[in-house]
Amino acid sequence: METKNGISSASSRGAWGSKIAFIFAASGSAIGLGNMWRFPLNVAKNGGAVFVITYLVAVFFIGFTIMLAEMTLGRHTQKNPVGVFETIKPRTPWKLVGFTAIVTCVCILSYYGVVAGWAAGYFFKIITGSFKGDVTWEASAETFLQFAKNPMAVFLCLFVIVGITVFVISKGVKGGIEKFAKLLMPLLFILIIFLAVRAVTLPAAETGLSFYLKPDFSKFDIEVLFFAVGQAFFSMSLGMGILLTYGSYISKRDNLVSSAGWVCFSDTMVALLTGIIIFPTLFATPGFDPKGFEVSTGLMFQVFPIIISKVPGGFVFGMIFFFLLLVAALTSTVSLLEVPVSYFIDEKKWSRKKAALLAGIFIFLLGIPSALSEGGVPLFTKWGFMGKMDLIFGNIMLAVGALFICIFLVYIWKVKNAIKEISQGNPRFKLGPFWVFNIKVLAPLAIIAILIFLIKDIL
Ligand code: PHE
Repeated sequence: METKNGISSASSRGAWGSKIAFIFAASGSAIGLGNMWRFPLNVAKNGGAVFVITYLVAVFFIGFTIMLAEMTLGRHTQKNPVGVFETIKPRTPWKLVGFTAIVTCVCILSYYGVVAGWAAGYFFKIITGSFKGDVTWEASAETFLQFAKNPMAVFLCLFVIVGITVFVISKGVKGGIEKFAKLLMPLLFILIIFLAVRAVTLPAAETGLSFYLKPDFSKFDIEVLFFAVGQAFFSMSLGMGILLTYGSYISKRDNLVSSAGWVCFSDTMVALLTGIIIFPTLFATPGFDPKGFEVSTGLMFQVFPIIISKVPGGFVFGMIFFFLLLVAALTSTVSLLEVPVSYFIDEKKWSRKKAALLAGIFIFLLGIPSALSEGGVPLFTKWGFMGKMDLIFGNIMLAVGALFICIFLVYIWKVKNAIKEISQGNPRFKLGPFWVFNIKVLAPLAIIAILIFLIKDIL
């Protein structure tokens, strides 16, 4: 029997109504600002096409592997991130991994909410006609800077985002927003394809395309690998218990491998297409100087108004686009807030309302320095507060979380049990040897290598 939030009430804990419901919900968490804001930023900062290729390799070999591992652990134990470890290895420090996941979610949400707030602000800006006529590079870059350094504007936007997220979670209508997103996300996909076509047909699109797609392998180093793996985890919502939780609602009859495959595929497509919009547009815009260019955190907000002004009906188009971006961001913020909230409900017996409200207040306060770090307060700007939070929580902590998942699955739970779980719903697990090699060897080694690089770099 299916209830209104797509989770059936067959068992008291609930389960997804169907495999498709899971794929949509997991893609809803995965697709968001990670694909459309963070991916192009990483490409721009890490050498262009060489990053794109490294990213694809990371998704295929590492992201997919960890995603399947999290879903399998979740489905087997049917628990929240702390409960997963308690069930398989009770009364050991392993549950700390679950706790770190909760902390990571809260910290990511604090600055993710700021960027989601920018999307809300831009939606408002478009409605009120801030971008009229042909938008130039200087004007667009300046508009972003003025907006991001205005404390009242960014606070208000952050407040709105955290407020909506708290509202959705406290009312337990997460399923509602997912249903809503299910209708709208295909539309976002179509708009992105349309904008990508427009971008590649701009005069002088080739320079941008070749930056994005023609790799210069001499630019490859371990730093590129580090950011590519971190981007894969961030974009696919891995390493922090979200897919563990979502996996716990998957039916034993469903095929975990193809479900994971679909989520990886849709998430990667959105990121790749966004790059096809951003780079040709950026390089083809008069006034843009690739040599004297410093990548700003607001890259996507500087570029999208330009390409939108170049399509017929740009005003309406831009409005719809930023609205959909906002919805995509909200499905991610909701999935991030659900992690701490369900922990407080399960373990501390708080009411859903109290958990959501207190977590929300804390996240808003924690978001303030990030909100002020794009020019609002010189000290935070100098530190690059938001960038530091993103480095620590969005890259390092996710990699650490994913490493623990690998170790736990391989050495504590054992691969043969995982295969048994995966085989339910997929008796001929064709990718078995590929996955086993990756989870045992490739993924942990790659993660350890990048973490060592980082420690060396810091010391
Ligand atoms: N994956 C989301 C995105 O790409 C962000 C996110 C990260 C959501 C981690 C949940 C957990 O926007």
